[in-house]
Amino acid sequence: MPSLTFIATANAVSYCGAVPHFVDSEEKTLGVDPHKLAKYLEEITEQRLDGCFNRHSGRRIKAVVPMHTFGHPVDLDPLTETCNRYGIELIEDAAESLGSFYKGRHTGNWGRFAALSFNGNKTITTGGGGTILTNDEDLGRMAKHLTTTAKVPHRWEFNHDMIGYNYRMPNINAALGCAQLEQLPGFLSAKRDLAGRYRQAFAGIPGISFFSEPSGSQSNYWLNTLILDEAHAHSRDTLLQLTNDAGIMTRPAWTLMHRLPMFANCPKMDTSVAESLERRMVNIPSSAMLGSGRTDA
Ligand SMILES: Cc1ncc(COP(=O)(O)O)c(C=O)c1O
Repeated sequence: MPSLTFIATANAVSYCGAVPHFVDSEEKTLGVDPHKLAKYLEEITEQRLDGCFNRHSGRRIKAVVPMHTFGHPVDLDPLTETCNRYGIELIEDAAESLGSFYKGRHTGNWGRFAALSFNGNKTITTGGGGTILTNDEDLGRMAKHLTTTAKVPHRWEFNHDMIGYNYRMPNINAALGCAQLEQLPGFLSAKRDLAGRYRQAFAGIPGISFFSEPSGSQSNYWLNTLILDEAHAHSRDTLLQLTNDAGIMTRPAWTLMHRLPMFANCPKMDTSVAESLERRMVNIPSSAMLGSGRTDA
């Protein structure tokens, strides 16, 4: 999984009893660098009958969990190819990328599983919660079973056949989600419009660039992003201070996962690109309400 992500990705890995292993991101997508990952896997893994193993730790590498950063799709073709070659599952953290397409196909459709978030800050919201995507009906049924305390269906008996979770979405939240889904096309076009205006506004400004969707992808522009040149990275905090003082909400990138105390001892590759991006990225206001064509702002 990328070190450059929101903490929920690393938490989810840990909840499964697995160990996050941090990989670098690329400047082109802000997500996992598939070519650097392929080279790294070649160096550190060995193939055994029961899967792909890390030669240093002896642990099995079970899944690659890319994240579509701020809605911009990672380069899924080479990533899928690498996962297939090594027999590793692809599980997309698509929390931020509802409405984003890679080569015409919606994100969350590549791996065996993906997760979307409907948290309050996302493109559509149900107040909280999200959804699991899978094309595998058996896995889908299993996921539903596990999220409903693994209760064996019966009209009156309480029987459970596994240790499950109380993770199902309450009906009230789901109703909100249905209404929000109807508005999704409008939200997406307003966000695209806003991104276009930012792109124009920052086009001629030296030292700073507006991050545009990677070629071949259509992004939902969930969070708009400015990237400072390396030479101006030292100005990031001043930019954050001045904008926030002026009532404009801007934010730095997340602290990289491998720097957090819980994950500091986890294995990692060289993450120099993620470290550089972390120093230089600033998110700027991104609400669909700021896009044109909306009169209810
Ligand atoms: C990359 C990423 N993964 C996972 C999550 C977690 O989603 P939720 O808040 O719905 O649990 C979020 C956002 O909240 C996220 O940005």
